[in-house]
Amino acid sequence: MEIVSDPQDMQAVALDWRKLGRRIAFVPTMGYFHDGHLSLMRYGREQGDRLVVSLFVNPAQFGPHEDLDRYPRALERDRTLAQETGVDVLYVPATTDMYPPGYQTYVTVEELSQPLCGASRPGHFRGVATVVLKLFNQVLPHLAVFGEKDYQQLVVIKRMVADLNVPVEVVGRPIVREADGLAMSSRNTYLNPEERRSALCLIKALTHARDRAAAGETEANRILAEVKQIITATPLTRLDYAMVVDPDTLQAVETIRGAARLAVAAWVGGTRLIDNMLLEVN
Ligand code: PAJ
Repeated sequence: MEIVSDPQDMQAVALDWRKLGRRIAFVPTMGYFHDGHLSLMRYGREQGDRLVVSLFVNPAQFGPHEDLDRYPRALERDRTLAQETGVDVLYVPATTDMYPPGYQTYVTVEELSQPLCGASRPGHFRGVATVVLKLFNQVLPHLAVFGEKDYQQLVVIKRMVADLNVPVEVVGRPIVREADGLAMSSRNTYLNPEERRSALCLIKALTHARDRAAAGETEANRILAEVKQIITATPLTRLDYAMVVDPDTLQAVETIRGAARLAVAAWVGGTRLIDNMLLEVN
């Protein structure tokens, strides 16, 4: 496995592979790898002839009072895991190369960036869309793999790629969970044992909602009332949002017809966690 940090070197490697007809799969990450990241890498490994994983904690997607400075980092461990998973290039650009002095170009996916996490994290998806487009231009992938864990992010990136005619196939992959159901996240490392127990209210609420929909409940508000009750009744938690949305437009759904996404965000102690679930009414 090669480690590349210069954006021009990355592009040169990608152009060489393309000349040889290699299919490039790409997994963008902020590092501190867990099985969620590794599942995307394994999928990329299967689908592509070459696999690039980027590791870049992107300042542009963090708000001024968010956790940029304490975001967990473990480059050596990540390097070993990437190598073991069959990554060809671990791409680790420097912040000063990604955003040099004078940098001023940003991508905004207007409407899809507004609800859900966009409402509580203004500017977040502008930072995400910008860095992902930059990474696409550096890595030149045929295929890019994202997790459904960050469901809104996936929808935003798909929209950006369609709107800007970016020649990349974007694939979403299922959420990987701990044995007890907590969605894997680099931020889970912030949780103390008591908070870790409380964090289970998210999956508890989501599976309850899934079961209610599967049993025929179509009214989003009734399901949401129960979801909110489960989360707010749990110690150390504070609900940010819980919404049932259309899977493509992310607009709130009142009556579930066929499929909808339930998306939740909650603070557990000082840590903000997100999770989501497909609701299907038969
Ligand atoms: P990061 O949080 O490191 O996540 C990298 C990728 O892993 C994303 O596509 C995310 O959805 C996926 N992922 C995280 N937890 C997962 C889980 N439990 N199961 C499945 N997939 C999971 O998302 C980002 O970084 C950044 O916003 C990025 C896209 C790299 C842009 O900076």
